[in-house]
Amino acid sequence: MAQDPFSGNVVIITGASRGIGRELAFQLAQQRATLVLAARNGEQLSNVAQLCRKKGAQQVICVPTDVTDEEQCKHLIEETIATYGHIDTLLLNAGEGRPRRFEALTDLTDLKGEMALNYLGVVHCVFYALPYLRQSRGRIVGVNSLSGLIGIPGTTGYNSSKHAARGFFNTLRAELQGSGVTVTVIHAGAISTDRLRETMGEMMDKIPTTTPERCASIIIRAAAARKRQVIMTVPGKLLPWINMLVPSLLDRMLNSIRYQ
Ligand SMILES: NC(=O)c1ccc[n+]([C@@H]2O[C@H](COP(=O)([O-])OP(=O)(O)OC[C@H]3O[C@@H](n4cnc5c(N)ncnc54)[C@H](OP(=O)(O)O)[C@@H]3O)[C@@H](O)[C@H]2O)c1
Repeated sequence: MAQDPFSGNVVIITGASRGIGRELAFQLAQQRATLVLAARNGEQLSNVAQLCRKKGAQQVICVPTDVTDEEQCKHLIEETIATYGHIDTLLLNAGEGRPRRFEALTDLTDLKGEMALNYLGVVHCVFYALPYLRQSRGRIVGVNSLSGLIGIPGTTGYNSSKHAARGFFNTLRAELQGSGVTVTVIHAGAISTDRLRETMGEMMDKIPTTTPERCASIIIRAAAARKRQVIMTVPGKLLPWINMLVPSLLDRMLNSIRYQ
């Protein structure tokens, strides 16, 4: 594989303002990619863009976007085409969840919001980008979670949205066979972002975590190799097997996880 497979590659990154997305932007900048940074917070995006330029990105634009809004996703793709003329890689990283057991919900607002962000946010961007990705024989890369593979108690909204996104990516991949467009899905384990610390509190110190830097480098390598799927970490790889062979044991194990 070329040393810098994303050199000159036009890459859209959603959720680029912090966490894993910001790290993806930095590492792609080091490979001299041409970047489009999207998230809602324009000020944070501008800061990330400035650092990306210093790290070697060929060009960077910021397009403040709420991916739950279809029109804003259409605008994101139109701005990219107006600026660079084509899209090589769509890196769908924007996402988050608010852990709460289903019976603790007082209404369905948060759960619907998680579906809008983690599932529809992906669908909106792919819908408008796909004609251009077909032209470039490009890459679609989804940052998913172990939550997209198994049921983790306390995260019904997040889990179901990540399951839905996995179903979407797997179906799309099959439909795109022979088109030259590839779909890579990354099932990340726990990544030590500020967000995870806010969500899990001290519990984060009791579980194995991966740094955002390492996570981004795994995503970029998998995308470069156009892999179908990566399940991060050895325990992560085992979980779907345990789920298939002894699901009730897995339910008991996972039920011991408590968020703050
Ligand atoms: N951290 C983990 O342990 C972990 C594990 C498995 C999978 N993941 C996945 O990895 C991805 C990144 O997670 P992270 O830990 O880096 O989270 P993070 O630090 O909270 O970053 C989330 C990113 O998504 C953006 N975002 C949130 N809502 C958005 C919206 N409506 N429209 C556009 N952008 C939006 C945020 O920017 P704005 O607020 O500026 O919009 C931010 O840039 C997510 O898909 C997450 O599900 C994370």
